[in-house]
Amino acid sequence: MITVKNLTKIYKTAVRSKNLFQDIFFRQYQKSLALDNISFEIEEGELVGFIGPNGAGKTTTMKILSGILYPTKGFVNVLGFFPFDKKYSFLRQIAFITGQKNQLIWELPAIESFRLNKEIYEIDEETFKKNVNELVELLDCRQIINQPVKTLSLGQRMRLEIINSLLHRPKILFLDEPTIGLDIFAQSSIIKFISEYQTRYNSTIILTSHYMQDVRRLAKRVILINEGKIIFDGKISDLINHHSQQKIIRIVLISPLAKKFSLPANFQYSYNFPELKITLPKKEIASKLSMILKQIEFSDVTIEDEPIEEVIKKVFKKS
Ligand SMILES: Nc1ncnc2c1ncn2[C@@H]1O[C@H](COP(=O)(O)OP(=O)(O)OP(=O)(O)O)[C@@H](O)[C@H]1O
Ligand SMILES: [Mg+2]
Repeated sequence: MITVKNLTKIYKTAVRSKNLFQDIFFRQYQKSLALDNISFEIEEGELVGFIGPNGAGKTTTMKILSGILYPTKGFVNVLGFFPFDKKYSFLRQIAFITGQKNQLIWELPAIESFRLNKEIYEIDEETFKKNVNELVELLDCRQIINQPVKTLSLGQRMRLEIINSLLHRPKILFLDEPTIGLDIFAQSSIIKFISEYQTRYNSTIILTSHYMQDVRRLAKRVILINEGKIIFDGKISDLINHHSQQKIIRIVLISPLAKKFSLPANFQYSYNFPELKITLPKKEIASKLSMILKQIEFSDVTIEDEPIEEVIKKVFKKS
């Protein structure tokens, strides 16, 4: 559905000098390498999380895939099209949703923007009504579609932005930080919606987010990108298995730790009765855990993976 081969993007920005003549006739440019020879493929129905620090190249990739930007070098094919050709039959099958920019008309109620999209995408009245109703229901927005957009909160606006972008039932969704700036309730309702929508329509989704719990809840596959290069592409579970050497043991104690309780000096742990939390190297769990449990009275023990944020930080540091 999406194929990217050896894609490179170099931004060229004009540099101003103090000399107007030079600026007009001999303008100097500064080049910055935003994407450096990246390749990947995405199948129909996949939901892929794009992760990377600020400036890594995530938005640039999405903009190239949706036809907003022209690639400097490389091969890009989305649904059989070269996106930048901006063919109507291509644009009808995709949606680009970003938490950073409004597409709804600010002064008018959202329903008016929906009607505009109905005309642009040539959606017939019956399908339009059906789609609006369904999306409004799923995102719980019925009361706010008739209110001017400028009077709504960020969370309400974001839900309407999503409806506006999905009225034409696109096959591919590019979601660029859809939950940025939202509180945890609004964030969680949007994540739940994306998950339900994807299951219902088997849409192909590329999602970027700086909130790892969004990605963890939605995506099985992640692409980590740093300074324009892909540094990992695979399942989240493989990322953890290959790059995390530690596990977190949580023990619920029945009685406080005895004074003589001790752990080897190189073990990280925190203790706040009744919880004792210990970070152990994976290889040592079998041998060390029984040694620890012998010294204490406990009611529960759980073994967890290291938080995904920590694993990702390590991978970025290594790269
Ligand atoms: N229009 C532009 N002109 C020049 N350079 C740009 C332009 N847009 C982006 N860049 C540069 O390209 C690089 C990649 O930017 P991009 O917006 O793709 O990053 P990102 O991964 O989306 O970051 P963020 O997490 O902050 O959204 C950055 O170094 C950025 O400064
Ligand atoms: Mg971005």
